[in-house]
Amino acid sequence: MSKKFDVAIVGATGAVGETILSILEQRNFPINNLYPLASANSAGKKVLCQGKSWTVQDLDKFDFSKVQVGMFSAGGSISEKYAPIAAEAGCVVIDNTAHFRRDKDIPLVVPEVNAHAIAGYTKRNIISNPNCSTIQMLVALKPIYDAVGIERINVATYQAVSGSGKEAITELTTQTAKLLNGQDIDIDVYPKQIAFNVIPHIDVFQENGYTKEEMKMVWETQKIFEDESILVNPTAVRVPVLYGHSEAINIETKKKITAKEATEILMSANGVTVIDRRENGGYATPFAEATNKDDTFVSRIREDISYDKGLNMWVVSDNIRKGAALNTIQIAEILIQEYL
Ligand code: A2P
Repeated sequence: MSKKFDVAIVGATGAVGETILSILEQRNFPINNLYPLASANSAGKKVLCQGKSWTVQDLDKFDFSKVQVGMFSAGGSISEKYAPIAAEAGCVVIDNTAHFRRDKDIPLVVPEVNAHAIAGYTKRNIISNPNCSTIQMLVALKPIYDAVGIERINVATYQAVSGSGKEAITELTTQTAKLLNGQDIDIDVYPKQIAFNVIPHIDVFQENGYTKEEMKMVWETQKIFEDESILVNPTAVRVPVLYGHSEAINIETKKKITAKEATEILMSANGVTVIDRRENGGYATPFAEATNKDDTFVSRIREDISYDKGLNMWVVSDNIRKGAALNTIQIAEILIQEYL
């Protein structure tokens, strides 16, 4: 019988945690015992996975020496405190928060792009999962990067509210329902109304005028590509979409690539589906194509009419799946197959 593993899910009751549970089941991850962990408020609740009911336990009381793998999605401050405790107890942590991503001795991994980096987990027993916007961008750009080189990436994101957790999903749906019924709304999660609106601000402002979400795309791209010379110029925007981030990307390549060549390369790329018919509806959208799908979708591939070595594309992916839960599980699969 093949080896099975004891796995802890930190933040099991959250938007990402719930998706981790369903993907563990779909991919038949070899689980021996599963430990769903959350705050004391959720302790005692039941979750289903792989045909069994598992009881949610209080993270604060959990003994991480019982598990070999821990998947963390309960926020940066929780990872800051508990990931080192888990790692010290012998559990390999795959962390979905930004907390450790920039640490030099912690691998930051998108399996389609830099699976080899997983080997570095031994330094701290922690592997970081990149930001959702970075993951889908790099899944789409890596094949082009390998073929012709990329000097500069200009990107504007259109990010779904699920990236901010369950409370944000409720904020969008509640505001929408209330506004349609002529009622007053509350604004809690975002700085402005998100229903019927667009907010050009994600995470905290930095001294250079960019937001932290934008700078994550810069820092993480350079780390994952192992290329400090690659230039990234992002604008991150929240839109009233439930699931699925979209990105309008313009790249400046080292050698010219035509739209036809780029399309052919992307059609055979791992984890990518090209939907690019130049007609009504011949492109991917977050709701209709990307939600609940594993792949990153690429559409609107076209040469930049303003610059000879420029290429445009529209990239859409399920932020909770490939942007978080699925990427975490893909890392875990490689970890258990090749290293544990
Ligand atoms: P809980 O449901 O008990 O609050 P989301 O990103 O959807 O908001 O989910 C956040 C996840 O992180 C939930 O599972 C939540 O558990 C968990 N979480 C939040 N705060 C804590 C905490 N102090 N200790 C353990 N888990 C926490």
